[in-house]
Amino acid sequence: MIPFSKRAFKFLPSTNAYLKKHYKKIADFTVVRAEEQGNGYGRKGRAWHSPKGGLWFSFIVSTNDPFFWIMCSSVSIVDVFPELKIKWPNDVYHKKRKIAGILSERIEDRIIVGIGINVNNKIPSDLEDKAESLSAIYNKEFNVQKVLDKILKKISENVSEPENIILKWKNYSVILGKRITIKKGEMLVEGIVEDLAEDGSIIVSNPNHREKITYGDIINWEEI
Ligand code: BTN
Repeated sequence: MIPFSKRAFKFLPSTNAYLKKHYKKIADFTVVRAEEQGNGYGRKGRAWHSPKGGLWFSFIVSTNDPFFWIMCSSVSIVDVFPELKIKWPNDVYHKKRKIAGILSERIEDRIIVGIGINVNNKIPSDLEDKAESLSAIYNKEFNVQKVLDKILKKISENVSEPENIILKWKNYSVILGKRITIKKGEMLVEGIVEDLAEDGSIIVSNPNHREKITYGDIINWEEI
């Protein structure tokens, strides 16, 4: 089992920023949770709305394989909430709405993995067609602390079975075998996702070409 230890705050600007500031004095597998974040952020510096009722936490780990920890985190969220799926590379969705996001940041030979999950929090009206909370899907309020404990337990279990993580990651994928449109910089690529690779890239093919894509934003994908 991973020896996670927890630090809980009523408020922090950002749990990732907290670990980035104090990492020198903080041991691996320290989990920092804030009930509310004033300045939560996501990938590409996008603001991450983090009011009370959501689960906002980060942990720090020494690794040379960040993608393994990101994959393990998204898989563990879906293990706990099987109605959800993974949208490459590591967003967690319910149908077409985002439930959770993961952001990893490197600091020396360690990474900070920040996880934001909409649990009981109300989604602001301008995000309503893009995001959703677990409480709306399951039609009940969750104990946020228990949700965190369940996810950490799953992360511990999954880390000890690395060969299963990639299999689950493919199984939980919302894009594998589907037609997608992906925005790569200023370019749009359309095609079928043939495979997801362990290094975090995807193989997309269309009648004109076949491409290995390592980054980009999927802006559309076909539903089953
Ligand atoms: C994304 O989808 O772009 C990633 C969102 C990550 C948000 C979490 S909430 C906890 C941690 N603290 C932050 O400021 N960000 C991450």
